[in-house]
Amino acid sequence: MNRGPFIFIGVFIVLAFSWANLVHKPVQESGQLAAYFSDSERMPRLLPGEAEQGRQVYQQMGCVSCHTQQSRLESGFDIQRGWGSRQSVARDYIDQSPSLIGDRRLGPDLSNAAAGDRDREWHHLHFYNPQITSKGSNMPSYSFLYDKTAVMGQKSDRALNLPEEFAVESGYQIVPSRRAEALVAYMLSLQVDYDLPEAPNPEKIGL
Ligand code: HEC
Repeated sequence: MNRGPFIFIGVFIVLAFSWANLVHKPVQESGQLAAYFSDSERMPRLLPGEAEQGRQVYQQMGCVSCHTQQSRLESGFDIQRGWGSRQSVARDYIDQSPSLIGDRRLGPDLSNAAAGDRDREWHHLHFYNPQITSKGSNMPSYSFLYDKTAVMGQKSDRALNLPEEFAVESGYQIVPSRRAEALVAYMLSLQVDYDLPEAPNPEKIGL
């Protein structure tokens, strides 16, 4: 008996089923998502120019290999950890290409890196050498994003205020490069504090 047509139909069904569920269904569900406007404010907010450049630095440096940008409410303790106030949803990522959602958490989730009291100075010290702000951290140092320059007259007002233990020899200073400034601007823009119809803040719905 010729089994050819049965094999063909079998393979066709398997491929058609996979395509329907893995390609067609997700595109139908989230491929058409548009920004949401509340009181004429656009959600998600667009990144300011420098932060957008920082997003590219984040991509180039491979930060996504250790950090996620997704708070999970239903399957984890992200809110208790202070990593967000609501579940991340597909619409949060519509402006991102590629999306930096990440799938490994060697470090904390960064979807709300701008929340809290970490300022520009903290992030620069942390990127220059994570041991300054987070002793024992296994995050790599990004000191190559900083320039060591000779102090000409007065110290630059952008120079890092390094603690004594990490200070460079006198007459020199550590100044952030444009890429480091952009990366910090990106960190300071990361905050999912807006509501979407499909993802209201849990405090507001009494969870
Ligand atoms: C090898 C894994 C690894 C890589 C790569 C990495 N990190 Fe981290 N990161 C960590 C760990 C672990 C911590 C927690 C300890 C600390 O604060 O240093 C952390 C902490 C942080 C924090 C503080 C977050 C908080 O809530 O305390 C920020 C911001 C951050 N990383 C940004 C970055 C950026 C931006 C990059 C890329 C330039 C990067 N990380 C690359 C592992 C990593």
